[in-house]
Amino acid sequence: ENTPPTLIMIFGATGDLAKRKLFPSLYQLFLKGSLSRRFALLGVGRREWTNDQFKEHVRDSLKASGHSQEQVESFIEHCVYQSHDVSDSNSYIQLKELANELDHKFDLEGNRIFYLAMAPEFFGTITDHLKLDGLTDTNGFTRLVIEKPFGHDLRSASKLNEQIRESFSEDEIYRIDHYLGKEMVQNIEVIRFANALFEPLWNNRFISNIQITSSETLGVEERGRYYEKSGALRDMVQNHMLQMVALLAMEPPINLSTDEIRSEKVRAFRSMRPIEGEEVDKYFVRGQYGAGEINGEAVNGYRDGDNVDDHSNTETFVSGKIMFDNFRWAGVPFYIRTGKRMSVKSTKIVVQFKDIPMNLYYNKEHSLDPNLLVIHIQPDEGITLHLNAKKTNQGVNTTPVQLSYSASSIDGINTPEAYEKLLYDCILGDATNFTHWDEVKLSWSFVDKISDYWEAVRESSFPNYQSGTMGPEKSDELLAEEGFQWWAIG
Ligand code: BG6
Repeated sequence: ENTPPTLIMIFGATGDLAKRKLFPSLYQLFLKGSLSRRFALLGVGRREWTNDQFKEHVRDSLKASGHSQEQVESFIEHCVYQSHDVSDSNSYIQLKELANELDHKFDLEGNRIFYLAMAPEFFGTITDHLKLDGLTDTNGFTRLVIEKPFGHDLRSASKLNEQIRESFSEDEIYRIDHYLGKEMVQNIEVIRFANALFEPLWNNRFISNIQITSSETLGVEERGRYYEKSGALRDMVQNHMLQMVALLAMEPPINLSTDEIRSEKVRAFRSMRPIEGEEVDKYFVRGQYGAGEINGEAVNGYRDGDNVDDHSNTETFVSGKIMFDNFRWAGVPFYIRTGKRMSVKSTKIVVQFKDIPMNLYYNKEHSLDPNLLVIHIQPDEGITLHLNAKKTNQGVNTTPVQLSYSASSIDGINTPEAYEKLLYDCILGDATNFTHWDEVKLSWSFVDKISDYWEAVRESSFPNYQSGTMGPEKSDELLAEEGFQWWAIG
């Protein structure tokens, strides 16, 4: 499908996200012919750059894409830069004039996407001005794409939401959660709702627990200032982890429209059991990395990082048990686990099925493994089903076998970057893979109760896991208490 003509205005165009993700993704869409030739990219930033400097910057960001100079140049012809002061009306009036010119030059029909890829403290100021100074006043569509973090807690998120709603209606707001752009996260629904093999089993009668792990090997690096105020709970759990949980737990929607899917996700969030006060210790575990080794190299602990307090109480690891108090899931724990400086960079979902009623193949040396459905999100993309079969030539002994589908090797090409898909959806006006305010609100209210407790009660055991491991022991105990274990599956 070809996209409608549009002006894409990126605030924070000199920043890291624009360079690493946004320009390359738009370029890929351009190359594939998915982006209408009637488009313009207006980079906005504080730096006093000339158009030529900006173009050079964009060119630079496309280097890795390895395509002909000619193609790159024809993309660059659509790029323009404007230096900008976020709190000065004159600056917006200049922007408006430039936007009108581009509109005319590329025949954009007044369609505008405002992409805020910059520090969140300016989100509200910018949206206020966009309206006040007339940038949203066009005869085409206007959309706002807004990067995380969407607030710091429910209170600040609500305040921010009220402010941006002054200038944009809910259906014009595209809140990014880049996990929703990942191929295999999008596949969760298809695996569930297009397979007779899974849908009938997707409940507490047949599933014993679900585990979602998103581990990283990198530490907090230069982001100490942001991370000290955030921690893994706000940085990963409130958004990416809970979004995956909702997709796994929601009821089948009556159709695939944005509204129907969102309302099922919202219902899933509403049935999550709230955890607060001392209960938090029973359901959640926090960790902070100490020194250790990653890929044979010695690395420092979190507290030794730049802009990090020597006695920091910030968690770099979270694992937890989430319960849904509804008919489908009563009694089935959803375990989540995420952290920095762990042993591998990987995101994966493991669905563990209940044991069959009786084991005919009982054997002292080898107990029967449970059936597992593994959804590999990254770096591999695919599905593995763990079954039991007969061991060749050895009577009736069983052996575990795996049925695997690897998305990346079958298609033979790299699947598109999450950002490429999300930008494409936004230009088309499809908000399904963006988060609705109701989801953001409910996930903050779940997470706030945990962070309130964690902020009130310091964790005296920090640092409590070594860099290069899978987190603190308590995280294993969380599952062991109920007779489960984290499945370490390559
Ligand atoms: C971001 C977090 O939202 O997600 C980062 O702010 C984290 O701290 C990143 O590293 C992980 O994303 P991915 O796609 O690499 O798993």
